[in-house]
Amino acid sequence: MKTIVIGANGQLGSDIVKIFSKDSFYKVFPLNHPDIDIAKPDSINSAVEKFQPQMIISTAAYHRVDECETHPQESFGVNAFGVRNLCLVCQKNNITLTHFSTDYVFGSDKKRNAPYLEQDAPGPQSIYAISKLAGEYFIRYLLKRYFLVRTSGLYGSAGPAGRAVNFVDNMVKKAQEGKEVKVVNDQILTPTYTVDLANNLKELLKTKEYGLYHITSEGQCSWYEFASEIFKLIKSSTALLPVPTSTFYSPVERPGYSVLDNAHLKKIGLNLMRPWQDALHRYMREKNYLR
Ligand SMILES: NC(=O)c1ccc[n+]([C@@H]2O[C@H](COP(=O)([O-])OP(=O)(O)OC[C@H]3O[C@@H](n4cnc5c(N)ncnc54)[C@H](OP(=O)(O)O)[C@@H]3O)[C@@H](O)[C@H]2O)c1
Repeated sequence: MKTIVIGANGQLGSDIVKIFSKDSFYKVFPLNHPDIDIAKPDSINSAVEKFQPQMIISTAAYHRVDECETHPQESFGVNAFGVRNLCLVCQKNNITLTHFSTDYVFGSDKKRNAPYLEQDAPGPQSIYAISKLAGEYFIRYLLKRYFLVRTSGLYGSAGPAGRAVNFVDNMVKKAQEGKEVKVVNDQILTPTYTVDLANNLKELLKTKEYGLYHITSEGQCSWYEFASEIFKLIKSSTALLPVPTSTFYSPVERPGYSVLDNAHLKKIGLNLMRPWQDALHRYMREKNYLR
């Protein structure tokens, strides 16, 4: 399957390219931001004309969550209208679209303490989340053949674009520096290793089971519990303190509970995601953090 990957040098995109390229089912064309801008329909059209893909996988997003609050135009320009641009080109050229959304489409239900199913009503709480949800609705409105994937707390070797390191690398660095570290314990989610997500996606995209999917690691934890596991694995004696979210200023309210149930994957017998502790262990081994 001739497959364009947009955002190919990003955190998730780079693992998708690596993993899909090893599978003969796919012929992968990796594209970076200078090659294609989803906010510009002409640049999508040129790429499609050049590569004649059957599938587009787009990891492109404007996802600096705090910045989205003061840049709603840019946020909607990429996360909503950019996605609409992709949909229109896919519709016209008979291309299947795979796109990523976020656990942040949930969060307004403050009493929630059970994982969200795909069919649960969203409740976004920020410009970022609203723009991502608008992107989701463009896909569901405009396309029949799509894989729309909500995921959560990504970490991968490439690190998120625009930030030097991901959460895991950051915690390892802080543990090594030895100064007390404070991490919030009132945001519950499921951190997800991009290699695992890419591997599960590789199998899902071979099917015709189109639709909306939650794909995260299994289990749940707070950011504090996640950091504790990292500290435990590297046997760090640096002090790690649980603190409420209010300790750190942010213009955005983040979900207190945004755990996703991979219910659709389970229903079709394709949930390959492992517990977050196992995935973290694998990542830490691959980064040579464990001796
Ligand atoms: N990171 C998380 O924790 C998380 C959680 C839930 C959902 N998600 C979703 O998962 C997806 C992938 O996240 P990620 O962490 O891999 O992000 P990332 O590392 O920032 O990668 C995004 C890629 O998209 C490119 N890009 C940005 N704007 C673009 C545009 N207008 N046109 C074309 N390419 C563009 C970026 O290139 P430049 O850097 O050169 O601009 C980058 O290569 C996103 O849709 C995000 O919303 C992420």
